[in-house]
Amino acid sequence: MQLRVLKFLLLALVGLQHLELSTGSRILTAFFFPGKSHFMMLNAVIRELVQHGHEVTNITPFSLAKENLGLNYTEIVIPQYNFWPSILETTKVNSVVELTDVSTLTLLKLFYEMGLKSTSMAFESPEVLKLIHAKDKAGKYDLLLVEQFFNEGALFLGHLYQVPVINLFTFTFANYMSSLTGIVTPWSYVAHGWKPYTDRMSLSERIDNVYVSLAEELMRKYWYYPAQDGILEQHFSKTFDRLPSIREMERNISVILLNTYMPLEAPRPVSFNMIPVGGLHIKPPKPLPPKMQKFLDEAVHGAIYFSLGSQVRCADFPPEKLKIFLDVFARLKQRVLWKFEDDKLLKLPPNVMTQDWLPQTDILAHPNVKVFISHGGLFGTQEAVHYGVPVLGMPVYADQYLNIKKGQIAGYTMGVDYRTVAEQELRHALTELLENPKYRDNIKRASRIFRDRPLSAMDTAMYWIDYVIEHRGAAHLVSEGLNLPWYQFYLLDIAGIAVALVLFPLLALLLICRSLRSAKKLKAKSKRN
Ligand SMILES: *[C@@H]1O[C@H](CO)[C@@H](O)[C@H](O)[C@H]1NC(C)=O
Ligand SMILES: *[C@@H]1O[C@H](CO)[C@@H](O)[C@H](O)[C@H]1NC(C)=O
Repeated sequence: MQLRVLKFLLLALVGLQHLELSTGSRILTAFFFPGKSHFMMLNAVIRELVQHGHEVTNITPFSLAKENLGLNYTEIVIPQYNFWPSILETTKVNSVVELTDVSTLTLLKLFYEMGLKSTSMAFESPEVLKLIHAKDKAGKYDLLLVEQFFNEGALFLGHLYQVPVINLFTFTFANYMSSLTGIVTPWSYVAHGWKPYTDRMSLSERIDNVYVSLAEELMRKYWYYPAQDGILEQHFSKTFDRLPSIREMERNISVILLNTYMPLEAPRPVSFNMIPVGGLHIKPPKPLPPKMQKFLDEAVHGAIYFSLGSQVRCADFPPEKLKIFLDVFARLKQRVLWKFEDDKLLKLPPNVMTQDWLPQTDILAHPNVKVFISHGGLFGTQEAVHYGVPVLGMPVYADQYLNIKKGQIAGYTMGVDYRTVAEQELRHALTELLENPKYRDNIKRASRIFRDRPLSAMDTAMYWIDYVIEHRGAAHLVSEGLNLPWYQFYLLDIAGIAVALVLFPLLALLLICRSLRSAKKLKAKSKRN
């Protein structure tokens, strides 16, 4: 009994302490890039911050007004930059599904373009400009949260308001982060995030990995960073005496929250301030809409959930491709729930249900869902692993190949190429995933590892946000490697000295020998004469 009272008191004390830490901070967030899926993570964090009693001012392309977050939530809605023209211009494709054929470097260039344009556009929003040109900035905010995507210009707000900065990274680790955090990332076993390689690479894979990672470093240094600096210059050089460079502002980033967690990521060097919080967007499941709930509840042989994410439209597939899917589905015992954007296009077999939007996490949580046909996006992959649903992967671009490849190696995913897949292959893959218990066993194991954490993903994110506010920035987490010139960072100066130390005596010896020899010759000559 006494023990219980003690425990209660202790818990109350801990609770109080936590409350004290987490109420009443004023947080500014700046999310410029209108990538819909990114906001699964970003908005989840916003909601939680408001719930914790923080006052949030949210610069965002997607309004949360419908959610009624209360008086402590203010938003500045910026126009949604339309990235379609950039995609057309840079890659010469007609729809997202064609991005499969685009090289990694072209894709990088495309993302840089999109980041630059959306950053520039955000700085034209009158509301954002009002924040930037406000007279009285001191003490207005306690923290700036920005998305670490390709909108580094947003860091300027942190500089202006003199507040610590946290980056929310909606992707998993990226190799370029080593120059953001001052650590060495060995390209020998750390694959570039958009390459379908693992930590065990063949020689040709390593060559490609070094090529892409190095090219990215150089593109960032000589093209991308100057271009981001140029945006600040273009918008603000008249109104501010001195503009900081992006690189300077990046050194002030206190913590980076990354959208990943074990076992989705292989071990790699990290800095103290890189905190993986993957899966924080996953909430306990809610009931489904009645029609869908009934459809899945009554799927006695199980169900397949099919969605290629928010960017890829299945309705864009050519009719002969759609026919392959429908023919295979029609001959299955299982039911199929398909995210499909245009239901007029299809004559559906009775076991298939389509809808243009589906509550994905809640569907994956349904015990009758046995297979997830997915493009391998990061959020969907995390949800599949969280709920232990084997995946049939059809990657389209960027990190999707890697996510699918990782699942294949871990033994819970099969991959097919959506462009070439034929009826036979699709049927075989689905049957294998449905009937061979190996896939389910493997993803259940991954699920247990993914969920086993000292603090939940969201609590970890909240802990570090409170931590940075509490300590007014966390310079003590930031590696000094960030401040070293590259030849010191890679010890090239030491290598130079070492080489000199070996070469110098050798050279000296050589010179001495030579002069001795010529002296001897001279002597011999004079004797002969
Ligand atoms: C709103 O924020 C203030 C501090 O900025 C805090 O004291 C208050 O509790 C918050 N209100 C709610 C309803 O969370
Ligand atoms: C970095 O942070 C320090 C301390 O908060 C601040 O004085 C400085 O102006 C910041 N640098 C930039 C470039 O914002």
